[in-house]
Amino acid sequence: MLDARNITKAYFEGDKELQVLKGINLKIARGEFLSIVGPSGAGKSTLLHILGGLDEPSRGEVYLDDFCLSSLKDAQKAMIRNTRFGFVFQFYHLLREFSALENVMLPAFLKKGEKKEEEIKDKAKGLLDFLGLSSRLTHRPSELSGGEQQRVALARALINDPEILFCDEPTGNLDSEAGKQIRAMLFELNHKKKTTVVVVTHSRELAQGSNRILNIFDGRIVSTEEILKKP
Ligand SMILES: Nc1ncnc2c1ncn2[C@@H]1O[C@H](COP(=O)(O)OP(=O)(O)OP(=O)(O)O)[C@@H](O)[C@H]1O
Ligand SMILES: [Mg+2]
Repeated sequence: MLDARNITKAYFEGDKELQVLKGINLKIARGEFLSIVGPSGAGKSTLLHILGGLDEPSRGEVYLDDFCLSSLKDAQKAMIRNTRFGFVFQFYHLLREFSALENVMLPAFLKKGEKKEEEIKDKAKGLLDFLGLSSRLTHRPSELSGGEQQRVALARALINDPEILFCDEPTGNLDSEAGKQIRAMLFELNHKKKTTVVVVTHSRELAQGSNRILNIFDGRIVSTEEILKKP
């Protein structure tokens, strides 16, 4: 489904070049649950953003089915991101002036079309309820704990039923109980809805439940571990 070919990413500080990704080749099958692990600064978030079309590689291409993501116009890319991809960012990126419920509903309004506001609201409430936040619907992000914001961000990522869900440390700020809930939700999504899931994680439990673990070190894939039979 996703095919990343010889991805490199460099940042420039003055005339000094910092190589963050050094030639990543990666194919992700439809329905796969992939974990990306590695030390801080290894390039995990950078890779996730490039796979999801949020950031451009310096060299190399990412193909989604037959499309080369970087050859698409910004508006087309934005459409794909909003309708086919879901993102849970490491630092959530919730909109501060909106409530938890409104944050979750927003991508569904941006998606052209059919759904009525009441329908969207019910779905958003259902997701927040499942994630244990039914008593926090009207809270703004500043009135939520880090772990609660993380769960709102997950609900927001799921409102449009993405084909691929990208999550950057989805259980990073959660205690074991809330972390367990998120893990269960990700596994269920992958099993029942066949959603392709790509997570960056430090959680051994989460990684061990996936199909494949990629170990990234200093901008390279240094090892791959197959956990279960590929879908
Ligand atoms: N916009 C930028 N300009 C310059 N350097 C950057 C930029 N974004 C990231 N980097 C550098 O790229 C490297 C990889 O960053 P990245 O966020 O991908 O790491 P990570 O593996 O996700 O780490 P962590 O586990 O701490 O989240 C880091 O050394 C970081 O300092
Ligand atoms: Mg990161």
